[in-house]
Amino acid sequence: VVREAVRLVEMGPRDGLQNEAQPVTTATKLALIDRLADAGLREIEATAFVSPKWVPQMADHAALMQALVRRPGVRYPVLTPNLQGFEAALAAGAREVAVFAAASESFSRRNINCSIAESIARFAPLMARAREAGVAVRGYVSCVLGCPLEGAVDPHQVAEVAWRLDDLGCEEVSLGDTIGVGTPAQVQAMLDAVARRVPVARLAGHFHDTWGMGVANVHAAWQAGVRCFDASVAGLGGCPYAPGATGNVATEDLVWLFQGLGVDTGIDLDRLVDTAHWISAELGRAPVSRVARARRAQ
Ligand code: HMG
Ligand code: MG
Repeated sequence: VVREAVRLVEMGPRDGLQNEAQPVTTATKLALIDRLADAGLREIEATAFVSPKWVPQMADHAALMQALVRRPGVRYPVLTPNLQGFEAALAAGAREVAVFAAASESFSRRNINCSIAESIARFAPLMARAREAGVAVRGYVSCVLGCPLEGAVDPHQVAEVAWRLDDLGCEEVSLGDTIGVGTPAQVQAMLDAVARRVPVARLAGHFHDTWGMGVANVHAAWQAGVRCFDASVAGLGGCPYAPGATGNVATEDLVWLFQGLGVDTGIDLDRLVDTAHWISAELGRAPVSRVARARRAQ
């Protein structure tokens, strides 16, 4: 349901925390999710039903989903890499899930231990089960602006993988600059190619801020017609299979960007900034977000 002129999908509890070396308690994760909902976030990616051997921080996925107190009007999607993860997510009460593929073969192997084609083939039975269960599925494409193992990635390859996810029945395809290396001109060229295969209304932007271009890339994608963006409170995060990559662009940075553009996000900036400082303190650091720091200094 699109209420706002732009939808911000919160990644903090999942993409943000998945790479934290120290275990974060389920209670802290749940408190984070609640505070994000208080701040006005309506889509909060809660956890990942991936292998605890691969991503130990997400090992409490079932306990978290069972303890989650859902609020009306808020969606709590979870990552599911295969049917096994999907069944576990469904049993734990998930009503929205996300599958994830990569635009680069090497990253696909590193991240989910199979080729791109194998990953798409695995998603087919998952999609069928999801349709049966009335569960909405989002798709991610990783490495859309560069791969940590292969370097440059061809926009047509991104378009091909995005189209496959769309064709499988994903309600939306989120395009991920997993390692945060892209620049606005590349965003434009990549979206030019992808929008020929998947309507821009079904695309989302997922930018990591490693090289500091997160906000600029969101703006470029916005100008190209994208109206949904993933972001992480306090700029939390990093990918376990992309060494050196930092967090998603900070949610509060995007709220500030869109406020300046006169575009409603439905989010209370001050509550969000408080949440950024709170979770950062829980993790023993300061928020990396410029807006979180500047707002606090006022
Ligand atoms: P695998 O080892 O190839 O799996 O891992 P397998 O099918 O051969 O099974 C091996 C073992 O894993 C078995 O257990 C299975 O039961 C178990 P055993 O018999 O050895 O005890 N297993 C599972 N356990 C829990 N949940 C499951 C599951 N499936 C099998 N769903 C697998 C394949 C996909 C599971 C693995 O590679 C994995 O979990 N990868 C995690 C990848 C991940 O979470 N990456 C980070 C998220 S993606 C991301 O951050 C990018 C994104 O933000 C967008 C962007 O920035 O670009 C979305
Ligand atoms: Mg990511």
